[in-house]
Amino acid sequence: MSFTVKQLSPAGASEVTGLDVRNGIGDEDMSRLRDVFRQSPILCLRDQHLSPTQQANFSRQWGPLEKQGKSDYCHPDDADILILSNERRADGSQVGIVDAGDFWHSDSSHMEEPCQMTMLLAVKNPEKGGDTHFINMYQAYEAMPEALKARIVGRSAVHHSSKTLNPRVTISAERANATEYYKSSEKMKKPVVQPMVRTHPATGRQSLYVSPRFTIGIDGMDDAEAQPLLDEVFRHMFSSQAWRYTHKWKDGDLVFWDNACLNHMAGGGYEYPDTRRMHRTTIAGGKAFYESKPAKT
Ligand code: OGA
Ligand code: MN
Repeated sequence: MSFTVKQLSPAGASEVTGLDVRNGIGDEDMSRLRDVFRQSPILCLRDQHLSPTQQANFSRQWGPLEKQGKSDYCHPDDADILILSNERRADGSQVGIVDAGDFWHSDSSHMEEPCQMTMLLAVKNPEKGGDTHFINMYQAYEAMPEALKARIVGRSAVHHSSKTLNPRVTISAERANATEYYKSSEKMKKPVVQPMVRTHPATGRQSLYVSPRFTIGIDGMDDAEAQPLLDEVFRHMFSSQAWRYTHKWKDGDLVFWDNACLNHMAGGGYEYPDTRRMHRTTIAGGKAFYESKPAKT
């Protein structure tokens, strides 16, 4: 037992100390850490000052990495790392993505095969703000009134990444040409349907699988009925602090989370020249599914 696990929140966050992942970790630690991650889908490894390649290699121990789409913001030393940052170069250009995660979402639920987990390394935190908020969607679903569960279980929702198709979000003024970008992606990207209640492939537990950021409708239901139903589901999701956790970052925190059973959001609240810089990897997942009888774990 080489590392120690301490609960940070009953909403599924834990801190791991005593692990040095710079050169990867052994099979035994990895298998124990996987078990911990099933119980606690938000893990924070403290004091990990990793190079981009060290982070990419450790990420790969969890599964194949996704290819980064936004090549302008990949790390020059290792293209598997995406930079999230509000830093600017002397010519005014952005070093990384400035508005990543500004509304509640589960990463890449607008893709046919959403990513399994996301790993962020806090390279530099701002003086104030920059927290990341999480909602445990297992717990939100378990606490949902049975009548509301019955209206969504077995149904699919429509997900899309274009902000211009979604009345629940707004476009950040910090990102140049964002409206044009989202307008053109309305047609270029096709909507994807996802089960509204999802069975976790590893734990067999059911969780709510919608988000204000990417869910724009319900498959086979008119908006006149679908939008109020989505509003009701979101109201429930935000109705309690019991299944919420806010991560306050320290430099060197390596946090990873399970996108199958969480929503998350960047809290913002900092302004250039107070800079925040995160290095991000995403581990590929499979198609989301719903099974009415959860698999035994
Ligand atoms: C992400 C994300 C939130 C943050 O990387 O997917 O949503 O606080 N990040 O940076
Ligand atoms: Mn995200």
